[in-house]
Amino acid sequence: MSSRDPDNLLDHDYDGIKEFDNPLPKWWLWLFYGAIIWSAIYVPWAHLGGHLPGAEYEAEVKEAEALHPRKEPGAGFDLAAAAVDQGRIAKGKATFDKLCMPCHGPQGGGLVGPNLTDNHWIHGGKMENIVKTITDGVPEKGMISWKSQLSPDDIVSAAAFIKSLKGTNPANPKAPEGQPEE
Ligand code: HEC
Repeated sequence: MSSRDPDNLLDHDYDGIKEFDNPLPKWWLWLFYGAIIWSAIYVPWAHLGGHLPGAEYEAEVKEAEALHPRKEPGAGFDLAAAAVDQGRIAKGKATFDKLCMPCHGPQGGGLVGPNLTDNHWIHGGKMENIVKTITDGVPEKGMISWKSQLSPDDIVSAAAFIKSLKGTNPANPKAPEGQPEE
C-alpha cells in the first residue's frame, strides 16, 4: 500500500499489524446519516401513526367490509310474504324433490335428516331460521350448505315449501327432534 500516507499510520501495533487512519468514504457516510434521518421520520410514522403492516391490513379489511357488507341469509326478501306465496312454494317443492328428498323423505317426514313437517325444530322454525339453515347448512351433522348450489331466491322458495309442510301427515314420520315451537 505504497500510495497510503505514512503520516496516517496509527500508533497501535496489534501483534505486528498496523492500522491507517483512513476516513470513511463520503458516499458511505451519507448513506449512514441518511438512514438515521430516515429512521427519525419512519419510526414515529409507522409506530405512532398506525402504519404497521398489521394495522394497515385491518384498516383495509374494514374498508372492504364497508364496501361489501356481509349479508344475513334471506336479507332483502320479504320472508313473511314468501312463506305464503304459492308460486314460491311450488318452486320450492321442485327443489326439494330434486335435492332434499333423499335425506328428508319424499314428503318431508324425515329419513337421515329430521322430520320437517312437525312443530319441532333443531335450528328454529321461523322463515329466517330455515333460510339460514339451508344457506349455511350444519355440515358437522350431515346437512350441507346449499349456498353454492342454490341462489338466495331458490333458498327462500325452498324454505317457503318447508314452511308449508307443517301439520301435513307424511307416511312413516320420523320422531320429533329439537324443541317444540308454537
Ligand atoms: C345428505 C343429507 C341431507 C340433504 C341432501 C339435505 N339435508 Fe337438510 N338436514 C340433514 C340433516 C342430517 C339435518 C339435521 C342437522 C342437525 O342435526 O343439526 C338437516 C336439517 C335440515 C333443516 C333444519 C331442521 C331443524 O329441525 O331445524 C332444514 C330446514 C333442512 N335440513 C332443509 C333442507 C333442504 C331445503 C334441503 C335441500 C335443498 C336439505 N335439507 C337437504 C340432511 C340433509
